[in-house]
Amino acid sequence: MNMARARKVVFALVGLLVVAQFIQPKRTNPPVIPSRSLAANIRVPVPVQGILRRACGDCHSNQTVWPWYSHIAPLSWVIVDDVNEGRRHMNFDDWENRQRPKLDNALLADICKEVKDKGMPPFSYRLMHKPSRLTPKEIGPLCAWSQSFGTVTLPRFEMTP
Ligand code: HEC
Repeated sequence: MNMARARKVVFALVGLLVVAQFIQPKRTNPPVIPSRSLAANIRVPVPVQGILRRACGDCHSNQTVWPWYSHIAPLSWVIVDDVNEGRRHMNFDDWENRQRPKLDNALLADICKEVKDKGMPPFSYRLMHKPSRLTPKEIGPLCAWSQSFGTVTLPRFEMTP
């Protein structure tokens, strides 16, 4: 590729990035109603609440701390999508809105499995958020609590409109 051509490609890419900034998905933090929370409905030891809030709260609560790069497309698209999707599956601030109440125990049991398998928090998130990397000392009590709900038999999540 000659220089003139390379310059054109770079300009086109920069142009695309600039245009992309105008497509901004909504970063929401819906109101928190304490009576609807996980802890209001299910016994959660205080240390476990702290771990869940710190390591999982950005995607599974209504109190997301939106990082600066969540304002930059195309990253913003991926991050907003992750948060919306995470909340839909399990929202500690809006537990009463869960879509599959009959599967509560399986969902709570899945928490330990996800953390042990390193499925949650997602790898990219752990990379950017050091405090979300849980130590064995934290995983112990988290798993003891999670496994007190039995074993995981969580069928695939089907979205209801
Ligand atoms: C960066 C956002 C993000 C963070 C942080 C995060 N999750 Fe998730 N979580 C998701 C998304 C998105 C889904 C749904 C898609 C999937 O399963 O990958 C999900 C799904 C889940 C599910 C499965 C729910 C179901 O209905 O199948 C569990 C359990 C879960 N997360 C637990 C956790 C736990 C525990 C933590 C903290 C240790 C955590 N997550 C941190 C984004 C996140």
